[in-house]
Amino acid sequence: MQVQNKVIVVSGGGNGIGRELVLNLLAKGATVAAVDISETALQETVKLAGNKEHDLSTHVVNITDRDAVATLPERIISKHGAVDGIINCAGIIQPFVRIKDLDFAAIERVMNINFYGTLYMTKAFLPHLLKRPEAHITNISSMGGFLPVPGQTIYGASKAAVKLLTEGLHSELLNTHVRVTVVFPGAIGTNIAANSGVSISARSESGNRQRSIKALAPSKAAQIIIDGIEQNRYRILVGSDSAFMDFIYRVSPSRAAKFIFNQMQSLLPE
Ligand SMILES: NC(=O)c1ccc[n+]([C@@H]2O[C@H](COP(=O)([O-])OP(=O)(O)OC[C@H]3O[C@@H](n4cnc5c(N)ncnc54)[C@H](O)[C@@H]3O)[C@@H](O)[C@H]2O)c1
Repeated sequence: MQVQNKVIVVSGGGNGIGRELVLNLLAKGATVAAVDISETALQETVKLAGNKEHDLSTHVVNITDRDAVATLPERIISKHGAVDGIINCAGIIQPFVRIKDLDFAAIERVMNINFYGTLYMTKAFLPHLLKRPEAHITNISSMGGFLPVPGQTIYGASKAAVKLLTEGLHSELLNTHVRVTVVFPGAIGTNIAANSGVSISARSESGNRQRSIKALAPSKAAQIIIDGIEQNRYRILVGSDSAFMDFIYRVSPSRAAKFIFNQMQSLLPE
């Protein structure tokens, strides 16, 4: 779906990839409704939008609040007239610990935001998208949603759930005007750890620095995602790390898992 002159909802629009999606969409001539739990973060996005500010509305919503999400479509439609697309980008990571050390509160938080938040948004907007002449749903999974990242196992499970939710939706909607795209970013240079309330241990600092050198800029990630949406792509691999691991995982899932283990073990407590 071409984004120009469309109304597109972006969750997680207050930071990182979501913010860059908002700015890129505005630059391409879309009207954007940015949704985020953080009002301050959304206000910063508005500032960065500059003279495109009049094409942007902001909505402070916790996407795990199903009732609040259910009221969003009417609020956005009454402001902008319609919704043509949604990009579910809001998400968090988990503390870098093994499952045996991760409590249920942390597990539920990750599943609620990454999986249920994406599901609530999708179900709330789908009836409206089905009425449009063309429409698009994009869900942000992760490279960690198709291969195991130790210390992010529940995060990976939540993103694998997003992957299958999105691929299933794609099939179910094949005979409609709603196209569906799943996105698998590799490492992107954002503040997701801090925004998720996750501290990186001192032991991991050097490994983390090495990794951050390779991280793709969120503005570049947003450009790749929007190009993929405009080409109605089934799946979008963002970054050479994601494309490489996708290939390796198909050839040998166990080798891919070992490779990632070697890369990530410095982040895990002894
Ligand atoms: N950064 C990476 O390396 C990377 C890699 C793969 C996938 N991803 C995925 O990309 C997406 C964006 O990540 P990012 O790095 O830009 O993160 P980020 O922390 O920069 O932005 C995420 C935004 O989501 C918002 N958010 C969190 N919980 C929310 C809730 N309950 N309701 C509404 N908004 C909420 C945050 O306030 C924040 O503004 C996430 O789904 C993440 O899992 C990121």
